[in-house]
Amino acid sequence: MIDNREISSFSGPEPLAAAVAKQWLDEMAAWAPGLRHTVALSGGRSATRLFTAMAAQSRARGQGFDGVHFFWADERCVPPDDEESNFRLAQELLFAPLCIPPARIHRLKGEADPESAAREASLELMGVAPVNPAGQPVLDLVLLGLGEDGHVASLFPGMEAAGWRWSAPYMVVRQSPKPPPTRISLSLAAIAAAREAWVLVTGAGKQTALHDSLTAPDRTSLGRVIAARPTTRIFTDTPVIG
Ligand code: 6PG
Repeated sequence: MIDNREISSFSGPEPLAAAVAKQWLDEMAAWAPGLRHTVALSGGRSATRLFTAMAAQSRARGQGFDGVHFFWADERCVPPDDEESNFRLAQELLFAPLCIPPARIHRLKGEADPESAAREASLELMGVAPVNPAGQPVLDLVLLGLGEDGHVASLFPGMEAAGWRWSAPYMVVRQSPKPPPTRISLSLAAIAAAREAWVLVTGAGKQTALHDSLTAPDRTSLGRVIAARPTTRIFTDTPVIG
């Protein structure tokens, strides 16, 4: 069986966040200087801890994000100053502390009409990232968190088949089981096309979702991502059972 996932285990959320931040900085240090690179961010508690660790380590190492363009794996359809906004989270914990120029921040417009915002975001991503022969933009790195139900980005396990087949980079997700109800998310196709996908599995209540993702590919969204990609890196502070 091809091993299409690489699992790293940690003793808790903080060591995990510190390790992912280090890996991210090491990864960027190896990226060819002067070229554009693209990273898609998630939201939630995992991202909060990661961004905090990232800002601290970036300052300590004196290493910035030169040439890195920031996109999102998903965004809630709320204004950018809303406390539920994934943009606001990154702005406060990462972009402002590290003085990331606005020209390299490609915000999903949560305040706009969702379909228009998703279309605009897809075009914007395709204008920055290289596009593969299938016409999918290739992000350098997608950072995902695993939800208790096995979702990643805003791709929830109960999504209908057409959603899993969505071919554009971004899609609208309505009636999300995790509030707020309407979101914009990278599609499975876009996550599958990314050069690297890292999934943070941290915090209580993730063990069953992780187990199901590793043993039954179509039972969770993470399982589908793992099945769709050559390899996926999983950083977990949750015991891997079975
Ligand atoms: C979102 C996130 C979502 C998150 C997971 C994990 O917008 O809600 O992008 O996909 O990453 O739900 O969230 P926690 O880290 O808070 O468990």
